[in-house]
Amino acid sequence: MDIKAIDIGKYKGIVFFTGAGMSAESGVPTYRGQGGIWHEYNWQEYACQEAWKTNPEKVFDFHDLRREEALKCFPHKGHEIITDVQDSHPNVTVVTQNIDGMHQRAGTENVIELHGSIWRVRCEREGWVKEDLAEGSFENRKCDCGAWLRPDIIWFSDMLNQEVLKQADETISNCELFISIGTSGVVWPAAGYPQLAKSSGALCIEVNPEPGEQSYIYDSVYRGNAGDVLPRMFNM
Ligand code: APR
Repeated sequence: MDIKAIDIGKYKGIVFFTGAGMSAESGVPTYRGQGGIWHEYNWQEYACQEAWKTNPEKVFDFHDLRREEALKCFPHKGHEIITDVQDSHPNVTVVTQNIDGMHQRAGTENVIELHGSIWRVRCEREGWVKEDLAEGSFENRKCDCGAWLRPDIIWFSDMLNQEVLKQADETISNCELFISIGTSGVVWPAAGYPQLAKSSGALCIEVNPEPGEQSYIYDSVYRGNAGDVLPRMFNM
């Protein structure tokens, strides 16, 4: 595959837009591909507000497993390249759909987490959100007030956090280089971001071994794995 090296100095703002495929090479399963989580688990039972209200223990067991699996995995070369690009450029943002914290573990800062994080919980009764970085299972499933805690994740049918959305919209509308990595582009509103970047005038590049719903939008498409393509794109 012929990959054109990018001169990052040419672009004022750079956005890496990532999905489950970014973490796939680290060993974290994707949602819809081969071995995808939603083939094994019915999201209606594990990943929606209704499921949590009906059976919070079952929902916590599922998310404990996600945390344990994530900790068995480590950032790959592609994650490191994004950190390196950020260290060499004043305006680099990661907008991710991933909840596994892998970008942060690779040392990347300025990460907008559209779908929340498995490393945070919130108490809906008391109205707070806090980190729970225990190694493995969540430290607590219940708040001191007696209410069930809730993983601070955007589940199916949830509204996205409006402040997070605003930040993502602004960052993407103002970027000049938009690189999408490892997303099938079927979950909205994230699926609208390639078009937003394109109509704002950014150069749009896709890295994904498979074509997706939004692939037609991109100026360049690299059909390969993130860990192979990113080092060649940035010569780092
Ligand atoms: N490098 C790049 N892309 C890859 C790799 C890889 N090594 N391996 C797989 N992919 C691609 C697949 O081809 C697929 O297009 O990653 C994509 C993963 O797609 P999904 O599993 O649908 O994940 P994503 O797009 O992130 O899902 C969006 O859906 O279930 C919800 O909230 C969940 O954030 C998630 C959202």
